[in-house]
Amino acid sequence: MIVNRIDRPKTTVTSNRFQVPQPQTSNTRDARRAVSDKTLRMKQHWVITTCCLVVLWNSWNKFACNVSEDLIKGMADAVVKSGMKDAGYVYVNIDDCWQVSRDASGNIVVDAQHFPHGMKAVGDYIHSLGLKFGVYSDAGTKTCAGRPGGLGHEYQDAIQYASWGVDYLKYDWCSTTTQDAKASYANIRAALDASGRPIVLSICEWGTAKPWLWGAEVGGNLWRTTGDINDRWGGRQKWPDGSCCSNGVLAILDQQVGLQSYAGPGHWNDPDMLEVGNSGMTDIEYRTHFSLWALLAAPLIAGNDLRNMRPEIHDILTNKEVIAVDQDALGHEGERVAKNGDLEVWSKQLQDGSRAVILLNRGESEQEITANWEQIGYPKTITASVRNLWEHKDLGKMTGKFSARVVPHGVVMVTVKP
Ligand code: GLA
Repeated sequence: MIVNRIDRPKTTVTSNRFQVPQPQTSNTRDARRAVSDKTLRMKQHWVITTCCLVVLWNSWNKFACNVSEDLIKGMADAVVKSGMKDAGYVYVNIDDCWQVSRDASGNIVVDAQHFPHGMKAVGDYIHSLGLKFGVYSDAGTKTCAGRPGGLGHEYQDAIQYASWGVDYLKYDWCSTTTQDAKASYANIRAALDASGRPIVLSICEWGTAKPWLWGAEVGGNLWRTTGDINDRWGGRQKWPDGSCCSNGVLAILDQQVGLQSYAGPGHWNDPDMLEVGNSGMTDIEYRTHFSLWALLAAPLIAGNDLRNMRPEIHDILTNKEVIAVDQDALGHEGERVAKNGDLEVWSKQLQDGSRAVILLNRGESEQEITANWEQIGYPKTITASVRNLWEHKDLGKMTGKFSARVVPHGVVMVTVKP
Protein backbone atom coordinates (compact mmCIF):
# COMPACT_ATOMS: atom_id res chain seq x y z
CA MET A 1 0.00 0.00 0.00
CA ILE A 2 1.28 3.45 -0.81
CA VAL A 3 0.86 5.69 2.18
CA ASN A 4 0.02 9.32 1.64
CA ARG A 5 2.88 11.60 2.65
CA ILE A 6 0.79 13.60 5.10
CA ASP A 7 -0.40 10.36 6.72
CA ARG A 8 3.08 9.12 7.50
CA PRO A 9 3.49 8.26 11.18
CA LYS A 10 4.96 11.00 13.31
CA THR A 11 7.88 8.94 14.47
CA THR A 12 11.57 8.93 13.92
CA VAL A 13 12.26 5.70 12.12
CA THR A 14 15.99 5.41 12.39
CA SER A 15 18.22 5.88 15.32
CA ASN A 16 20.82 7.83 13.43
CA ARG A 17 18.86 10.95 12.73
CA PHE A 18 17.40 9.87 9.42
CA GLN A 19 13.83 10.88 9.83
CA VAL A 20 10.57 10.50 8.07
CA PRO A 21 9.19 13.92 7.12
CA GLN A 22 6.72 15.14 9.70
CA PRO A 23 3.18 16.14 8.79
CA GLN A 24 3.32 19.75 7.66
CA THR A 25 1.64 22.24 9.95
CA SER A 26 1.68 25.93 9.22
CA ASN A 27 4.29 26.34 11.98
CA THR A 28 6.65 23.78 10.57
CA ARG A 29 6.11 25.21 7.13
CA ASP A 30 7.02 28.69 8.36
CA ALA A 31 10.11 27.42 10.10
CA ARG A 32 11.20 25.57 7.03
CA ARG A 33 10.85 28.64 4.86
CA ALA A 34 13.98 29.84 6.59
CA VAL A 35 15.84 26.95 5.06
CA SER A 36 17.19 27.05 1.53
CA ASP A 37 14.97 26.30 -1.45
CA LYS A 38 17.07 23.27 -2.19
CA THR A 39 16.45 21.81 1.24
CA LEU A 40 12.76 22.55 0.98
CA ARG A 41 12.56 20.69 -2.28
CA MET A 42 14.15 17.70 -0.59
CA LYS A 43 11.38 17.62 1.94
CA GLN A 44 9.05 16.26 -0.70
CA HIS A 45 10.83 12.96 -0.29
CA TRP A 46 10.27 10.34 2.34
CA VAL A 47 13.73 10.15 3.71
CA ILE A 48 15.56 13.19 4.81
CA THR A 49 18.30 13.83 7.26
CA THR A 50 17.33 16.70 9.46
CA CYS A 51 20.79 16.90 10.84
CA CYS A 52 23.63 14.56 10.44
CA LEU A 53 25.19 11.87 8.53
CA VAL A 54 24.80 8.23 8.07
CA VAL A 55 27.60 6.17 9.57
CA LEU A 56 27.78 2.59 8.53
CA TRP A 57 29.63 -0.43 7.22
CA ASN A 58 29.74 -1.59 3.60
CA SER A 59 31.05 -4.86 2.19
CA TRP A 60 32.80 -3.67 -0.99
CA ASN A 61 36.23 -2.36 0.03
CA LYS A 62 37.25 -5.53 1.84
CA PHE A 63 35.08 -8.30 0.42
CA ALA A 64 34.09 -7.15 -3.08
CA CYS A 65 31.91 -9.94 -4.56
CA ASN A 66 32.51 -12.37 -1.68
CA VAL A 67 29.30 -11.50 0.13
CA SER A 68 27.01 -13.95 1.89
CA GLU A 69 24.38 -14.16 4.58
CA ASP A 70 26.95 -15.46 7.05
CA LEU A 71 29.35 -12.63 6.33
CA ILE A 72 26.72 -9.93 6.68
CA LYS A 73 25.27 -11.39 9.86
CA GLY A 74 28.76 -11.74 11.31
CA MET A 75 29.51 -8.15 10.49
CA ALA A 76 26.24 -6.97 12.03
CA ASP A 77 27.16 -8.88 15.21
CA ALA A 78 30.57 -7.25 15.14
CA VAL A 79 29.08 -3.75 14.82
CA VAL A 80 27.38 -4.39 18.15
CA LYS A 81 30.16 -6.31 19.94
CA SER A 82 32.95 -3.97 18.90
CA GLY A 83 31.15 -0.94 20.34
CA MET A 84 30.70 0.56 16.88
CA LYS A 85 26.94 0.66 17.33
CA ASP A 86 27.48 2.67 20.52
CA ALA A 87 29.79 4.97 18.60
CA GLY A 88 26.94 5.70 16.16
CA TYR A 89 27.33 3.21 13.30
CA VAL A 90 23.88 2.18 12.19
CA TYR A 91 23.66 0.80 8.65
CA VAL A 92 25.00 -2.57 7.50
CA ASN A 93 25.14 -2.45 3.72
CA ILE A 94 25.59 -5.23 1.19
CA ASP A 95 27.30 -3.82 -1.89
CA ASP A 96 27.45 -5.50 -5.31
CA CYS A 97 26.97 -9.23 -6.07
CA TRP A 98 24.02 -10.29 -3.93
CA GLN A 99 21.89 -10.57 -7.11
CA VAL A 100 22.26 -13.05 -9.97
CA SER A 101 19.47 -12.61 -12.53
CA ARG A 102 15.84 -11.68 -13.10
CA ASP A 103 12.96 -14.15 -13.22
CA ALA A 104 10.34 -14.38 -15.97
CA SER A 105 8.37 -11.55 -14.33
CA GLY A 106 11.42 -9.34 -14.10
CA ASN A 107 11.86 -9.73 -10.36
CA ILE A 108 15.41 -9.55 -9.14
CA VAL A 109 16.75 -12.97 -8.16
CA VAL A 110 18.98 -13.23 -5.09
CA ASP A 111 22.06 -15.48 -5.10
CA ALA A 112 20.48 -18.44 -3.30
CA GLN A 113 23.79 -20.17 -2.70
CA HIS A 114 25.18 -17.29 -0.63
CA PHE A 115 21.90 -15.96 0.72
CA PRO A 116 20.00 -19.23 1.30
CA HIS A 117 17.27 -17.63 3.41
CA GLY A 118 16.75 -14.63 1.11
CA MET A 119 17.21 -10.96 1.76
CA LYS A 120 14.32 -10.44 4.15
CA ALA A 121 15.95 -12.86 6.57
CA VAL A 122 19.16 -10.83 6.41
CA GLY A 123 17.24 -7.61 6.93
CA ASP A 124 15.29 -9.07 9.84
CA TYR A 125 18.52 -10.17 11.51
CA ILE A 126 20.12 -6.75 11.09
CA HIS A 127 16.99 -5.06 12.42
CA SER A 128 16.86 -7.43 15.39
CA LEU A 129 20.19 -5.94 16.49
CA GLY A 130 18.79 -2.41 16.30
CA LEU A 131 20.70 -1.71 13.10
CA LYS A 132 19.56 -0.71 9.60
CA PHE A 133 19.86 -2.61 6.36
CA GLY A 134 21.26 -1.42 3.04
CA VAL A 135 21.56 -2.92 -0.43
CA TYR A 136 23.15 -1.91 -3.71
CA SER A 137 21.97 -1.70 -7.30
CA ASP A 138 22.70 0.29 -10.41
CA ALA A 139 20.90 2.80 -12.62
CA GLY A 140 21.97 1.01 -15.80
CA THR A 141 21.45 -2.43 -17.28
CA LYS A 142 24.23 -4.04 -15.25
CA THR A 143 25.99 -3.35 -11.98
CA CYS A 144 29.72 -2.67 -12.02
CA ALA A 145 30.35 -6.35 -11.27
CA GLY A 146 28.11 -7.36 -14.18
CA ARG A 147 25.04 -8.35 -12.18
CA PRO A 148 21.54 -7.24 -13.29
CA GLY A 149 21.03 -3.50 -12.92
CA GLY A 150 17.84 -1.61 -12.18
CA LEU A 151 17.07 0.09 -15.49
CA GLY A 152 13.39 -0.31 -16.31
CA HIS A 153 12.74 -2.18 -13.05
CA GLU A 154 12.93 0.76 -10.66
CA TYR A 155 9.40 0.52 -9.23
CA GLN A 156 9.41 -3.28 -9.16
CA ASP A 157 12.74 -3.29 -7.34
CA ALA A 158 11.73 -0.58 -4.90
CA ILE A 159 8.69 -2.58 -3.83
CA GLN A 160 10.90 -5.63 -3.45
CA TYR A 161 13.42 -3.69 -1.34
CA ALA A 162 10.65 -2.32 0.86
CA SER A 163 9.29 -5.85 1.40
CA TRP A 164 12.74 -6.95 2.57
CA GLY A 165 12.94 -4.05 5.02
CA VAL A 166 15.66 -2.20 3.15
CA ASP A 167 16.53 1.18 4.68
CA TYR A 168 19.28 2.33 2.35
CA LEU A 169 20.01 1.96 -1.36
CA LYS A 170 23.36 2.67 -2.98
CA TYR A 171 22.68 3.19 -6.69
CA ASP A 172 25.68 2.86 -8.98
CA TRP A 173 26.29 4.19 -12.49
CA CYS A 174 27.77 1.35 -14.57
CA SER A 175 26.23 0.33 -17.95
CA THR A 176 24.21 3.52 -18.27
CA THR A 177 25.34 4.41 -21.84
CA THR A 178 23.42 7.58 -22.81
CA GLN A 179 21.21 7.84 -19.70
CA ASP A 180 20.82 11.25 -18.11
CA ALA A 181 22.15 11.06 -14.58
CA LYS A 182 19.80 13.54 -12.94
CA ALA A 183 16.72 11.98 -14.55
CA SER A 184 17.86 8.46 -13.67
CA TYR A 185 18.34 9.26 -10.00
CA ALA A 186 15.08 11.22 -9.86
CA ASN A 187 13.40 8.12 -11.24
CA ILE A 188 14.74 5.74 -8.59
CA ARG A 189 13.94 8.30 -5.88
CA ALA A 190 10.34 8.45 -7.08
CA ALA A 191 10.19 4.66 -7.08
CA LEU A 192 11.58 4.44 -3.56
CA ASP A 193 9.10 7.06 -2.38
CA ALA A 194 6.24 5.15 -3.99
CA SER A 195 7.26 1.99 -2.11
CA GLY A 196 5.96 3.60 1.07
CA ARG A 197 9.15 2.85 3.01
CA PRO A 198 11.70 5.51 3.94
CA ILE A 199 14.86 4.51 2.08
CA VAL A 200 18.06 6.53 2.03
CA LEU A 201 19.31 7.13 -1.51
CA SER A 202 23.06 7.06 -2.01
CA ILE A 203 23.93 8.39 -5.48
CA CYS A 204 27.05 6.60 -6.71
CA GLU A 205 27.72 8.44 -9.93
CA TRP A 206 31.42 9.14 -9.21
CA GLY A 207 31.09 12.89 -9.70
CA THR A 208 31.05 12.70 -13.48
CA ALA A 209 27.88 14.76 -13.96
CA LYS A 210 28.58 16.93 -10.89
CA PRO A 211 25.85 15.43 -8.69
CA TRP A 212 26.50 18.07 -6.02
CA LEU A 213 24.62 20.46 -8.35
CA TRP A 214 21.44 18.37 -8.53
CA GLY A 215 21.70 15.49 -6.03
CA ALA A 216 19.70 17.21 -3.30
CA GLU A 217 17.04 18.37 -5.72
CA VAL A 218 16.32 14.82 -6.89
CA GLY A 219 16.19 13.54 -3.31
CA GLY A 220 19.61 12.01 -2.98
CA ASN A 221 20.85 11.89 0.59
CA LEU A 222 24.50 11.53 -0.35
CA TRP A 223 26.41 11.51 -3.62
CA ARG A 224 29.83 10.27 -4.52
CA THR A 225 32.08 13.09 -5.62
CA THR A 226 34.86 10.96 -7.14
CA GLY A 227 35.84 7.62 -8.59
CA ASP A 228 36.56 4.78 -6.19
CA ILE A 229 38.86 5.03 -3.25
CA ASN A 230 41.85 2.68 -3.03
CA ASP A 231 43.60 1.52 0.11
CA ARG A 232 46.61 3.76 -0.38
CA TRP A 233 47.87 7.18 0.65
CA GLY A 234 48.19 9.07 -2.63
CA GLY A 235 47.93 9.00 -6.40
CA ARG A 236 45.33 8.12 -8.99
CA GLN A 237 45.25 5.08 -11.26
CA LYS A 238 43.18 4.50 -14.38
CA TRP A 239 40.96 1.44 -14.50
CA PRO A 240 42.06 -1.38 -16.83
CA ASP A 241 39.57 -0.15 -19.46
CA GLY A 242 41.28 3.24 -19.50
CA SER A 243 38.51 5.13 -17.72
CA CYS A 244 39.37 7.26 -14.71
CA CYS A 245 40.21 6.47 -11.84
CA SER A 246 40.82 4.84 -8.52
CA ASN A 247 42.18 7.23 -5.95
CA GLY A 248 44.39 7.31 -2.91
CA VAL A 249 43.27 9.28 0.13
CA LEU A 250 45.08 12.48 -0.87
CA ALA A 251 43.73 12.35 -4.43
CA ILE A 252 40.19 12.11 -3.09
CA LEU A 253 40.85 14.85 -0.57
CA ASP A 254 42.02 17.28 -3.23
CA GLN A 255 38.88 16.64 -5.27
CA GLN A 256 36.72 17.85 -2.36
CA VAL A 257 38.14 21.37 -2.42
CA GLY A 258 35.40 23.80 -3.44
CA LEU A 259 32.51 21.37 -2.93
CA GLN A 260 31.82 22.26 0.70
CA SER A 261 28.92 24.63 0.03
CA TYR A 262 26.89 21.85 -1.63
CA ALA A 263 26.71 19.72 1.51
CA GLY A 264 24.26 20.26 4.31
CA PRO A 265 21.68 18.55 6.48
CA GLY A 266 20.11 15.73 4.51
CA HIS A 267 22.37 15.99 1.47
CA TRP A 268 26.04 15.21 1.70
CA ASN A 269 29.10 14.99 -0.47
CA ASP A 270 30.41 11.42 -0.28
CA PRO A 271 34.19 11.11 -0.82
CA ASP A 272 33.73 7.32 -0.78
CA MET A 273 34.03 4.68 1.88
CA LEU A 274 36.76 4.34 4.46
CA GLU A 275 39.74 2.07 3.94
CA VAL A 276 40.72 2.22 7.63
CA GLY A 277 42.00 -1.21 8.68
CA ASN A 278 42.39 -2.74 5.23
CA SER A 279 46.20 -2.93 5.54
CA GLY A 280 47.35 -0.75 2.63
CA MET A 281 48.23 2.25 4.80
CA THR A 282 49.93 2.87 8.12
CA ASP A 283 47.93 3.51 11.26
CA ILE A 284 49.05 7.14 11.11
CA GLU A 285 47.65 7.40 7.58
CA TYR A 286 44.41 5.69 8.63
CA ARG A 287 44.02 8.16 11.48
CA THR A 288 44.57 11.00 8.99
CA HIS A 289 42.03 9.48 6.57
CA PHE A 290 39.40 9.17 9.31
CA SER A 291 40.06 12.67 10.70
CA LEU A 292 39.75 14.31 7.29
CA TRP A 293 36.59 12.42 6.37
CA ALA A 294 35.05 13.56 9.67
CA LEU A 295 36.05 17.15 9.01
CA LEU A 296 34.50 16.86 5.54
CA ALA A 297 31.21 15.82 7.20
CA ALA A 298 31.47 12.70 5.04
CA PRO A 299 29.34 9.63 5.55
CA LEU A 300 31.62 7.44 7.67
CA ILE A 301 31.36 4.08 5.93
CA ALA A 302 33.72 1.56 7.47
CA GLY A 303 34.93 -0.93 4.88
CA ASN A 304 37.14 -3.31 6.85
CA ASP A 305 36.59 -6.66 8.55
CA LEU A 306 35.03 -5.60 11.84
CA ARG A 307 35.22 -9.13 13.25
CA ASN A 308 38.95 -9.05 13.87
CA MET A 309 40.15 -5.47 14.12
CA ARG A 310 43.45 -4.62 15.77
CA PRO A 311 42.91 -2.37 18.81
CA GLU A 312 44.57 0.52 16.95
CA ILE A 313 42.00 0.25 14.15
CA HIS A 314 39.14 -0.10 16.60
CA ASP A 315 40.30 3.04 18.40
CA ILE A 316 40.35 5.00 15.16
CA LEU A 317 36.89 3.91 14.02
CA THR A 318 35.27 4.49 17.41
CA ASN A 319 36.84 7.81 18.41
CA LYS A 320 33.67 9.51 19.59
CA GLU A 321 35.22 12.97 19.69
CA VAL A 322 36.14 12.72 16.02
CA ILE A 323 32.79 11.16 15.08
CA ALA A 324 31.09 14.05 16.90
CA VAL A 325 32.86 16.47 14.54
CA ASP A 326 31.52 14.50 11.57
CA GLN A 327 28.01 14.40 13.01
CA ASP A 328 27.88 18.00 14.25
CA ALA A 329 24.33 19.28 14.10
CA LEU A 330 25.16 22.38 12.06
CA GLY A 331 25.95 20.11 9.14
CA HIS A 332 28.78 22.20 7.71
CA GLU A 333 31.40 20.52 5.58
CA GLY A 334 34.90 21.64 6.54
CA GLU A 335 37.35 23.13 4.06
CA ARG A 336 41.01 23.74 3.45
CA VAL A 337 41.84 27.19 4.80
CA ALA A 338 45.61 27.26 4.35
CA LYS A 339 48.18 25.46 2.23
CA ASN A 340 51.95 25.84 2.22
CA GLY A 341 53.40 23.04 0.11
CA ASP A 342 52.76 19.81 1.99
CA LEU A 343 51.45 21.59 5.08
CA GLU A 344 47.75 22.32 5.28
CA VAL A 345 45.13 23.61 7.70
CA TRP A 346 41.54 22.41 7.44
CA SER A 347 38.67 23.88 9.46
CA LYS A 348 35.03 23.07 10.10
CA GLN A 349 32.54 25.31 11.84
CA LEU A 350 30.57 23.53 14.56
CA GLN A 351 27.12 24.25 15.94
CA ASP A 352 28.35 25.86 19.16
CA GLY A 353 30.47 28.35 17.24
CA SER A 354 33.70 26.46 17.84
CA ARG A 355 35.86 25.02 15.08
CA ALA A 356 37.30 21.60 14.43
CA VAL A 357 40.78 22.12 13.02
CA ILE A 358 43.18 19.71 11.36
CA LEU A 359 46.86 20.37 10.86
CA LEU A 360 47.84 18.05 8.01
CA ASN A 361 51.38 17.12 7.05
CA ARG A 362 51.38 15.47 3.61
CA GLY A 363 55.18 15.45 3.50
CA GLU A 364 57.93 13.05 4.49
CA SER A 365 59.46 14.87 7.48
CA GLU A 366 58.04 16.08 10.76
CA GLN A 367 57.01 19.74 10.58
CA GLU A 368 55.49 22.43 12.74
CA ILE A 369 52.14 23.67 11.41
CA THR A 370 50.23 26.72 12.66
CA ALA A 371 46.54 27.51 12.41
CA ASN A 372 45.96 31.26 12.78
CA TRP A 373 42.62 32.27 14.19
CA GLU A 374 41.97 34.49 11.15
CA GLN A 375 42.28 31.45 8.90
CA ILE A 376 39.53 29.70 10.85
CA GLY A 377 37.25 32.72 11.03
CA TYR A 378 38.12 34.34 14.38
CA PRO A 379 39.74 37.70 15.17
CA LYS A 380 43.37 37.22 16.16
CA THR A 381 42.78 38.80 19.58
CA ILE A 382 40.41 36.04 20.69
CA THR A 383 41.42 33.57 23.38
CA ALA A 384 40.11 30.05 22.85
CA SER A 385 40.30 26.65 24.54
CA VAL A 386 42.04 24.03 22.45
CA ARG A 387 41.38 20.31 22.86
CA ASN A 388 43.26 17.49 21.15
CA LEU A 389 40.71 14.97 19.83
CA TRP A 390 43.13 12.05 19.45
CA GLU A 391 44.89 12.50 22.79
CA HIS A 392 41.55 13.36 24.44
CA LYS A 393 43.33 16.16 26.22
CA ASP A 394 42.65 19.86 26.88
CA LEU A 395 45.66 21.82 25.73
CA GLY A 396 44.68 25.06 27.49
CA LYS A 397 43.75 28.53 26.32
CA MET A 398 45.51 30.09 23.35
CA THR A 399 45.37 33.52 21.75
CA GLY A 400 45.64 34.15 18.02
CA LYS A 401 46.92 30.77 16.90
CA PHE A 402 47.61 27.11 17.61
CA SER A 403 50.81 25.37 16.53
CA ALA A 404 51.92 21.76 16.78
CA ARG A 405 54.54 19.45 15.34
CA VAL A 406 52.96 16.96 12.98
CA VAL A 407 54.51 13.65 11.93
CA PRO A 408 54.81 12.72 8.22
CA HIS A 409 51.39 11.80 6.74
CA GLY A 410 49.87 12.68 10.09
CA VAL A 411 47.39 15.11 11.53
CA VAL A 412 46.86 16.94 14.75
CA MET A 413 43.12 17.37 15.18
CA VAL A 414 41.71 19.81 17.73
CA THR A 415 38.65 21.80 18.57
CA VAL A 416 39.07 25.53 19.12
CA LYS A 417 36.39 27.02 21.35
CA PRO A 418 36.38 30.77 22.14
C1 GLA B 1 31.65 0.88 -8.34
C2 GLA B 1 31.40 1.70 -7.09
C3 GLA B 1 32.02 0.99 -5.91
C4 GLA B 1 31.40 -0.38 -5.75
C5 GLA B 1 31.56 -1.18 -7.04
C6 GLA B 1 30.77 -2.47 -7.02
O1 GLA B 1 33.00 0.82 -8.66
O2 GLA B 1 31.94 2.98 -7.24
O3 GLA B 1 31.84 1.74 -4.73
O4 GLA B 1 30.06 -0.26 -5.40
O5 GLA B 1 31.11 -0.42 -8.17
O6 GLA B 1 30.86 -3.17 -8.23
